[in-house]
Amino acid sequence: MELQIEYIPTGEIIRVVSQTGECKTAAGSDGIRLTMESALTARDRVGVQDFVLLENFTSEAAFIENLRKRFKENLIYTYIGSVLVSVNPYKDLEIYSRQHMERYRGVSFYEVSPHLYAIADNSYRSLRIERKDQCILISGESGAGKTEATKKILQYYAVTCPASDQVETVKDRLLQSNPVLEAFGNAKTLRNDNSSRFGKYMDVQFDYKGAPVGGHILNYLLEKSRVVHQNHGERNFHIFYQLLEGGEDDLLRRLGLEKNPQQYHYLVKGQCARVSSINDKNDWKVVRRALSVINFNDNEVEDLLSIVASVLHLGNVQFAANEQGNAQVTTENQIKYLARLLGVEGSVLREALIHKTIIAKGEELVSPLNLEQAAYARDALAKAVYGRTFSWLVNKINKSLAYKGAECPGWRSATVLGLLDIYGFEVFQHNSFEQFCINYCNEKLQQLFIELTLKSEQEEYESEGIAWEPVQYFNNKIICDLVEEKFKGIISILDEECLRPGDATDMTFLEKLEETVKNHPHFLTHKLADQKTRKSLGREEFRLLHYAGEVTYSVTGFLDKNNDLLFRNLKETMCSSENPIINNCFERTELTDKKRPETAATQFKNSLSKLMEILMSKEPSYIRCIKPNDAKQAGRFDEVLIRHQVKYLGLMENLRVRRAGFAYRRKYEIFLQRYKSLCSETWPTWEGRPHDGVAVLVKHLGYKQEEYKMGRTKIFIRFPKTLFATEDALEIRKQSLATKIQATWRGFYWRQKFLHMKHSAITIQSWWRGTQGRRKAAKKKWAVETIRRFIKGFIYRNYPRCSENEYFLDYIRYSFLMNLKRNLPKNVLDKSWPTPPPSLCEVSQLLRQLCMQNMVWSYCKRISPEWKQQLDQKVVASEMFKGKKDNYPQSVPRLFINTRLGTEEINPKVLQVLGNETIKYAVPVVKYDRKGYKARVRQLLLTQNSIFIVEEAKIKQRIDYANLTGISVSSLSDSLFVLHVRCEDNKQKGDVVLQSDHVIETLTKTAMSADRIENVNVSQGSIKFTTGQGKEGIIDFTSGSELLIAKAKNGHLAVVAPRLNSR
Ligand SMILES: Nc1ncnc2c1ncn2[C@@H]1O[C@H](COP(=O)(O)OP(=O)(O)OP(=O)(O)O)[C@@H](O)[C@H]1O
Ligand SMILES: [Mg+2]
Repeated sequence: MELQIEYIPTGEIIRVVSQTGECKTAAGSDGIRLTMESALTARDRVGVQDFVLLENFTSEAAFIENLRKRFKENLIYTYIGSVLVSVNPYKDLEIYSRQHMERYRGVSFYEVSPHLYAIADNSYRSLRIERKDQCILISGESGAGKTEATKKILQYYAVTCPASDQVETVKDRLLQSNPVLEAFGNAKTLRNDNSSRFGKYMDVQFDYKGAPVGGHILNYLLEKSRVVHQNHGERNFHIFYQLLEGGEDDLLRRLGLEKNPQQYHYLVKGQCARVSSINDKNDWKVVRRALSVINFNDNEVEDLLSIVASVLHLGNVQFAANEQGNAQVTTENQIKYLARLLGVEGSVLREALIHKTIIAKGEELVSPLNLEQAAYARDALAKAVYGRTFSWLVNKINKSLAYKGAECPGWRSATVLGLLDIYGFEVFQHNSFEQFCINYCNEKLQQLFIELTLKSEQEEYESEGIAWEPVQYFNNKIICDLVEEKFKGIISILDEECLRPGDATDMTFLEKLEETVKNHPHFLTHKLADQKTRKSLGREEFRLLHYAGEVTYSVTGFLDKNNDLLFRNLKETMCSSENPIINNCFERTELTDKKRPETAATQFKNSLSKLMEILMSKEPSYIRCIKPNDAKQAGRFDEVLIRHQVKYLGLMENLRVRRAGFAYRRKYEIFLQRYKSLCSETWPTWEGRPHDGVAVLVKHLGYKQEEYKMGRTKIFIRFPKTLFATEDALEIRKQSLATKIQATWRGFYWRQKFLHMKHSAITIQSWWRGTQGRRKAAKKKWAVETIRRFIKGFIYRNYPRCSENEYFLDYIRYSFLMNLKRNLPKNVLDKSWPTPPPSLCEVSQLLRQLCMQNMVWSYCKRISPEWKQQLDQKVVASEMFKGKKDNYPQSVPRLFINTRLGTEEINPKVLQVLGNETIKYAVPVVKYDRKGYKARVRQLLLTQNSIFIVEEAKIKQRIDYANLTGISVSSLSDSLFVLHVRCEDNKQKGDVVLQSDHVIETLTKTAMSADRIENVNVSQGSIKFTTGQGKEGIIDFTSGSELLIAKAKNGHLAVVAPRLNSR
């Protein structure tokens, strides 16, 4: 794909050229259709969104074609100026979601495609900004979608308006009033499965914040005749079926009802109790919930349903004629139910149903009724009860919707938005009193519409300073007058006939009518018609030429319906009712009031005139609903039916009035804002007045003089084609503008991004450099200070600790300790130790001790029990001999051995004699006789308790440790020693002189075993010892070159110990 830009007079257009060479302009895509229906190609397909833009605005065919195009595209809404035309789609369209509501909220009317929400929002904004009451008039024939539109508008307000707890309740009640009113006031008809059988005007009150705070409903002319009769294929009001279908068994039992609608005469006339599109059971649940939302308590609901049930029972009351032809009630059971449900005396009710009371000259005359009259009286009662209950219901809803603020005098009054959902123009095969009233109502609304539209049009021209161009239109006031004028109007004549004494009938009324209004151009009867038209008129009919077309009415029933009579005794019975609702509906004053009640037509006329007043005081918006086919089918566009509705809704008339002068008008600011890009002088901004800008713009666009007019604040364009040409140019221009804007924006965007990044990089760099520089400077400063302190400290190092030297001393201490840590002695024998500075000598000493202790301790922890024993012995040896005996140092490095003789080296006999005494140590020794000092080889054994001196298999001497008094040894390097033994008698052998090659080891073990460590005596020179019989011997020790042991001449034992090198 590549983009080509081609220039056309109004600007450039972008072409997208695909590889196949196919070329498409970017305009007119589907996307554009959705957002802007005025796009080039879309307009051909979906028509115009405002009928005023139809080139051929006088052509009905063009009008319908536009409707058709849009309908096919599911665009069901189209404007005629500010009037919304809506075609019932008969299917759910995805255009009522919350997002749609948001899209229309606060948006100017023309910015988005036509929608109900645009009308709702526009009215709401006018209400808020101008604080002017608004009304939305919704009209159209039965099934055209009026009620649906009303509900959707209410939903729109419920969702989009400001909320609070109290407002939520009101919103709920406003929404929930609908299902209740629909249950009691709507019914299935041939035209609509949910047809409203009453007119409804609902005021929604908004407070100064724009939140809905209350509401009020006015109801018009309920079709009461439906209670007692329905045409084939139609039903009675929904509530009857809902109650029978959905009501709990208990409730139905209390009301005396059966689930089957076929049981009730008032429900079988139309022969279609069940309808596929209606789910009575579900609807019943909805209604029950709604009743509680709008403040009905259980008792009120029960009273209300009692009345509904009583109407059904009333329908089943039957009569039979007695011999005199007078009616008698034959269904006592029904009377019983009725008496209970209506809270009246059964007998009184029975009598009232078959008698008639007339007051003549102050006297009451009671006369019996015949069968026909009794049935009439019964039906009249049913209608009256239902009709009045409906009005009561509306009042009750009104109470629950009432704006509480209105009661507080200080509060600002609320502004009001009215919604009128009223029956549209109706033309049937047979038209009766009801159609007459309904069509009269539509005449009035049309008149109001014309008056208000023309008025506003004229006002706009005036305020804009544009000369008013008279508009040709049909003013239907003449028809309204024909119906409502005093004395001469149809309603007056009808009332007169109703009130006239004598035999007034529907036909006499027709005659009177012919007489009075025969010359009226919009009135025709069989008698007044010419030959040709006469054929289409019955003798009991009259025809009115309504603004929307002709309608022929049959006068049959006019008088009865207008009188709406209920016999006095039935009224009396109802006044005595104990059902609070009935009691409220039938007031006793009615009975005493001498004045005749107003006829139905007059009541309707008066309520209409009040409605007109209400509507006139408000700013209206219109929704005209159209029904596309009679089959309630989606997608079917029945042109004949639609043409008919377009006609009688007066849509062409609407359009003509709207298009009489100019097709299009817009404020200068808005016009300039939209189209300024089409002229280089106004693009991109116009600095001057918008008025002048528009003048420049239209000149540039080549508008002709007759095509437009410049008002004070608006430009008026006469023909749609002028606007379309401008719109088309804009559409093309938009494409190129979009590209330019995109390119500029992208350039701007990326440049901004680049600049931003560059700026960020520089900032980061400078911060980083700054940080680095600061760190370096701080380090230098610190170094200088440290060196300075160090030098000073060095100078003062020998002073006591003070601020000058503390750093230095700390440093010295630190480095000494660190040095010490690295050079600690590795073991106990390692005597190295770093030299401490003078100030730490003492500490160093302490540390050294600690270190040594620590090493010793850990060494001790590590040594084995054997080694410990060895050491213990070595320590003892050290204590005994260190520095005292010359050959001690030689013994130090030699380990003490557990024993020098194994058991195999000791004679078994000796072992046997020792028995249990285990040998702890054994060593070969030399024993010197006491007398001759002869040397004899012996073994020395140490046991638990004794020392044994053994010769071969013979124990020569046993010395118990207790008897060992001491051990003597010389200080020289000889290995002789004497064991001193206590001699208690002469039999004992006495001290023993022994010699061991391992003298230190032998003596240590002996001293330890005998616990004689303290008794080891190291002698200088000589040692005395005692022999057996109390004699003494002496050993003299001298040192010489070599060891010599011999008996000296003096009888002493002379021992020459070799001199050791160490000495
Ligand atoms: N906007 C809509 N979208 C979908 N369906 C709709 C819409 N409007 C109306 N309908 C369908 O048309 C039916 C008839 O509409 P509604 O009851 O509003 O008609 P009405 O004009 O009030 O008639 P009546 O005068 O008999 O009361 C609805 O029940 C619904 O099925
Ligand atoms: Mg309706």
